[in-house]
Amino acid sequence: MQDLKVLLDGVKGDTGTAAVLGAAACGVVGVLLLLRTVSRGREVERKIQRARSRRTEVLQRADQAVLRYRQTHSTADSASILALPLAELREKLQTGSLSPEDVLYTYMEQTLAVNAKLNCCTEIIMESFDQLKTIGSNKDGLLYGVPISLKENISYKNYTSTCGMVKNLDKPAQKDSVLVEVLKKQGAIPFAKTNVPQALLSYDCSNPIYGETKNPCNPKKSPGGSSGGEGALITAGGSVLGLGTDIGGSVRIPASFCGICGFKPTAGRLSSLGVNSSLQGQKSVLTTPGPMARDVDSLALFMQAVLCDHMFELDPTVPPLPFNMQTYKSSRPLRIGYYDNDGYSQPSPSMARAVREVKALLEDAGHTLVPYLPLKLDHTMTELLLRGLFADGGVTLLEQVKGGPMVPGFALQILPYRIPNWIKKFLSLLIKPVSSRVAGFLSAVCGVGSPQNVWKNQAAVAEYTNETISYWRKINIDVLLCPMIGPAYWPRYAGKSSTPLSYSMIYNLLNFSAGTVTVSTVTEEDEEELKHFKGIYQDFQDRLFKEAVTGGVGLPVSVQCVSLPWQDEMCLRLMKEVEELVRSRK
Ligand SMILES: *[C@@H]1O[C@H](CO)[C@@H](O)[C@H](O)[C@H]1NC(C)=O
Ligand SMILES: *[C@@H]1O[C@H](CO)[C@@H](O)[C@H](O)[C@H]1NC(C)=O
Ligand SMILES: *[C@@H]1O[C@H](CO)[C@@H](O)[C@H](O)[C@H]1NC(C)=O
Ligand SMILES: *[C@@H]1O[C@H](CO)[C@@H](O)[C@H](O)[C@H]1NC(C)=O
Ligand SMILES: *[C@@H]1O[C@H](CO)[C@@H](O)[C@H](O)[C@H]1NC(C)=O
Repeated sequence: MQDLKVLLDGVKGDTGTAAVLGAAACGVVGVLLLLRTVSRGREVERKIQRARSRRTEVLQRADQAVLRYRQTHSTADSASILALPLAELREKLQTGSLSPEDVLYTYMEQTLAVNAKLNCCTEIIMESFDQLKTIGSNKDGLLYGVPISLKENISYKNYTSTCGMVKNLDKPAQKDSVLVEVLKKQGAIPFAKTNVPQALLSYDCSNPIYGETKNPCNPKKSPGGSSGGEGALITAGGSVLGLGTDIGGSVRIPASFCGICGFKPTAGRLSSLGVNSSLQGQKSVLTTPGPMARDVDSLALFMQAVLCDHMFELDPTVPPLPFNMQTYKSSRPLRIGYYDNDGYSQPSPSMARAVREVKALLEDAGHTLVPYLPLKLDHTMTELLLRGLFADGGVTLLEQVKGGPMVPGFALQILPYRIPNWIKKFLSLLIKPVSSRVAGFLSAVCGVGSPQNVWKNQAAVAEYTNETISYWRKINIDVLLCPMIGPAYWPRYAGKSSTPLSYSMIYNLLNFSAGTVTVSTVTEEDEEELKHFKGIYQDFQDRLFKEAVTGGVGLPVSVQCVSLPWQDEMCLRLMKEVEELVRSRK
C-alpha cells in the first residue's frame, strides 16, 4: 500500500490517470502477494515432499537390511518371538537364548509390514542397527536388547520432532532426550518413531506431513491420539513397548481405541527434557511422557528401568524415587472409589458397562468399592482446565500452525482461537440457552486476559487439587476406577468433540497418576443401547460423540485406574489386578 501512495502522489491533479495507475498498482501488488503465497505454498509443498521421500527411502533401506539379514541368518522363528510377552522376551534375551539381532530384525520386519497397512511410523531409526554392535556393554540393563518405539516428539539425535507441523521440519535434534539416553543405557534399542496429529493437540492422528494413521482393529476408525502411531504399531504387533506423551489422554486414549495398556505417571516423575511440545510453558494442565504396551507388567518394567540413578543424574529436577516394587506387588485389599458416569459427559454404553463389570470382579476379589464423583466438574472443565490450557487465547497454538497447511478438520478445530474475543463472548451468550457446555468453551478459549489471572487460574487449580485430595481422605479410598473414552471414533471427530475429555484430562489437571487397561469389546447390546443415547446436556457435543462411537461392535473397551500424585506404583498395581481378574474370567 505504501507503494501505491507514492504512485498516487506522483500524479496529483489528474484523477483519471490516478485511477488507472492506482488500479494497475493494486493489480501489481495483488499479483506480487499472490506469487509470494504461491511460492510459499510451493516451498511448503517441497518440504513435505522431501520429508516424504526421505521416509520412503529410509523404509526401503530398513527393508533391505532385514532382507540381507534373513538371507544370511536362517535361525529365528519370527512368530514365536513376536508372541512373547515383554517379560519373557526380556528373560530370553538376558539368558542368551535369543539374540538382540534376531529380536530387532524380527520386530523391524513386522513394523515395516504393519506400517505399510496403517501408516503409523514417521521414521525408522537406522542407528538401531548400529546399536547392535555395542549393545553387549549394556548386558546388565533391565531392557537389554528390547526394541522400543518412540512417539514423534521425543528427541532422538539427528531426527526431527515436528509435532506434525511443517515449520518444524529440517530441524534435527541436537541430542537424545534424557529418556532415550536412559533407555539406551538400560539396553533398549529405539528403532522407530511414530505418528502424531497436527500440533499434537488432538486425540486424532493425522498431519499434513505424514498423513493419517489407521486403527488396526478397524482401518476405517481412528487409532486415537496424540500417541496414535504408538497405539496402532503396538496393537498390530510391530512393537512390544512404546513411549508416548499425555496432556489430556494422549497415551490413554490411543491405548483404549486400539486395545492395549497405557500409563500416565505423575507429571515430574519422568524426565521431560528433550520432549517437544506445541504449548511450551503452559502449566495449568500438565503433560508427561508415559509407556504403552500389551500388558501392565511391561509398563511397570518400563518405569522400573527408567527410574534409575542415571535419569536422576541427567535430570536433577526429577525426584530420585526408584520404582517401589513392594507397592506394585502388594496384595493388601483396597478401598476403591468408582464412577461409571462423571455427570458431565454421558459415557457410551460400553464405557459404563466395562466399569460395572470390573467393579463386580474387584468386589468378588475382596476389595471394597465406594461410590465417587469428581468434584464440580462442570465449572472445573471450563474455568480451570480449558481456560488454563488456553490462557493465552490460543495465540501460541496459532503461531505454531501459521502459514502451514492443515489437515481436514484442523481449520475448524482452531477456528475458535481465530475469532475475536468480543465475538466469542457474544456467541457464548447466544448459545448459552442451547448448550451451557459449548457456551462455556467459547468463553474459556478467550483466555485469561492478564498475568494476574494466570496466577489466579493456577491457584484455583491448586485449590481444586487440595479439595479433591481431602475428599479422597474423607471417604478413605486408595485408588479410583472409572471409564475411559471409547470405543474408537471415526476419523476427524476428535477435533470437534472436546467434552468427553473430562474422563481423561481431569487427571492431567489434578496431576494424579492414571492408566488404562483394555477389559472388553463392544457388544451388539451396547450398540443397540447407543441408539437411544441422548446425553446429559443433549447438546451438539452429545450428538457428535454418539456419531463418533457408532459402528463399534467388536472394538476394544478399556477402564481407567487412578491414584494420588507420586503413587504411580499403586495405580499400576490396580491396573495389574484388573488385567488378571479380567483374564481369569475369560
Ligand atoms: C548426524 O548427522 C550428521 C550430519 O548429517 C552426521 O555427520 C552424523 O554422522 C550423524 N550422526 C549420527 C549419530 O548419525
Ligand atoms: C520444538 O517445538 C518448538 C515449538 O513448536 C519449535 O520451535 C522447535 O523448533 C521444536 N524443536 C525441535 C527439535 O523440533
Ligand atoms: C505433579 O503433582 C505433584 C503433587 O502435587 C507435584 O509435586 C509436582 O510438582 C507436579 N508436577 C509438575 C510437573 O508440576
Ligand atoms: C509431546 O506431545 C504431547 C501431545 O500429547 C504434548 O502434550 C507434549 O507436550 C509433548 N511433549 C512434552 C512433554 O512436551
Ligand atoms: C487444603 O485442604 C485442607 C483440608 O480441607 C484445608 O485445611 C487447607 O486450608 C487447604 N489448603 C489450601 C491451600 O487450600
